[in-house]
Amino acid sequence: MKAAILTLFLIFMMIASPCLCNDLGKVFNVISYGAVGNGKTDDTRAFAKAWEAVCNANGITSLIIPKGKIFLLNPVQFKGPCRATKVLVQVGGTIAASANLKTWTDNEKWIHFETVDGLAINGGGQIDGQGSVWWNACSDKALHFHNCSGLQLSNLRHLNSQKNHISISGCKGVKINNLRISAPEDSPNTDAIDISTSSNIEVLNTVMETGDDCIAINGGSSNITISGVACGPGHGISIGSLGKNEAFDTVEEVHVRNCTFKGTQNAARIKTWQGGKGYARKISYENIQIINSQNPIIIDQNYNPNSLNANAQSAVEISNVTFRNVYGTSVDEIAVDLVCSDHIGCTNIVLNNIDIKSAIPGKQTISRCNNVHGSTLSPCNPIVPCLSH
Ligand SMILES: *[C@@H]1O[C@H](CO)[C@@H](O)[C@H](O)[C@H]1NC(C)=O
Ligand SMILES: *[C@@H]1O[C@H](CO)[C@@H](O)[C@H](O)[C@H]1NC(C)=O
Ligand SMILES: *[C@@H]1O[C@H](CO)[C@@H](O)[C@H](O)[C@H]1NC(C)=O
Ligand SMILES: *[C@@H]1O[C@H](CO)[C@@H](O)[C@H](O)[C@H]1NC(C)=O
Repeated sequence: MKAAILTLFLIFMMIASPCLCNDLGKVFNVISYGAVGNGKTDDTRAFAKAWEAVCNANGITSLIIPKGKIFLLNPVQFKGPCRATKVLVQVGGTIAASANLKTWTDNEKWIHFETVDGLAINGGGQIDGQGSVWWNACSDKALHFHNCSGLQLSNLRHLNSQKNHISISGCKGVKINNLRISAPEDSPNTDAIDISTSSNIEVLNTVMETGDDCIAINGGSSNITISGVACGPGHGISIGSLGKNEAFDTVEEVHVRNCTFKGTQNAARIKTWQGGKGYARKISYENIQIINSQNPIIIDQNYNPNSLNANAQSAVEISNVTFRNVYGTSVDEIAVDLVCSDHIGCTNIVLNNIDIKSAIPGKQTISRCNNVHGSTLSPCNPIVPCLSH
């Protein structure tokens, strides 16, 4: 009798447990949890239930969001820690934000992952923030990862986020590869990728065309490698702004290589607030092509748009910054703009092999300096007389 019950139990377990398919591990499909995917039905609850299952199963697990369907989601949180050692999320179809403002509270994140280690999201599908309804209202980040490690994002299309498309905070070990992130040039605050208080991050081979920064690197971040990014339209790849409201912020070891900027407001930018504290150091921009950007190379250590604390003498220290092999065209006359604070200044700023011509035929580009120290290692166009040769 006992044996019979046990056999029945085992058979039941075999039927009930999800299939064990090769490297996807245990597979959970959102459709099995009640998601409809017709672009009209709210699938938030189904996704939350499927997440509980995929997060709490043992070993490697996969959440399948099938192709050819549109899943409508209200704000939703996917929280760990998970029992699963690795969670794969395969986005084949489209995940779209519900555009019903009544179901959102102000400043709510749309899709929030927290304390999930070993999360990988890919699958060729798209994540659509339906941002146009938000661009005149209060809103927050589209896809947000907090307190993660070993995150991988690849092969996805992100569009029209409410605010930042992808935000990473409190994470260690993140690899982003082969995304396409787009929003209209005039959409407000639609940064492509925002990084704060995170380290060991790689961003590779990604197209970013949005209304704000392509990548913004904020305080508490280090060891960030960016390469193969095509940015534009957008506001460039920026360190900062750091030191807002007299904050102590640090950023170091940021290396940007092999990137192109087309029609961007800035290209390589470091921006820190007057009155801030801390440092931004060991930063390099190398092999950078610029096509018709307004501010190709810009350091602003005095950022203070509303003239708050206008007498503050402190500033975030900026040092050991190299720009190497930066070439192309500038829309503005000032192609190299190095404006550092009178009190703190910038040190060991190195320009090597810079050739930025004017986008306007027959015009020259120029540089501007304030309290900046460092050197040019080769002839520089525009000439930067304030640096030693
Ligand atoms: C952050 O993640 C770690 C590792 O997964 C976990 O142990 C810790 O509790 C998390 N911290 C918070 C504040 O959730
Ligand atoms: C920097 O990050 C990379 C991953 O992007 C990692 O392999 C490397 O070990 C990190 N370096 C340090 C010094 O932590
Ligand atoms: C940058 O491009 C150069 C020349 O094409 C290549 O040799 C190098 O490996 C690339 N570096 C990165 C980090 O992609
Ligand atoms: C900055 O670079 C200088 C000269 O290469 C070096 O002596 C110094 O140690 C560096 N500082 C930091 C904080 O890396």
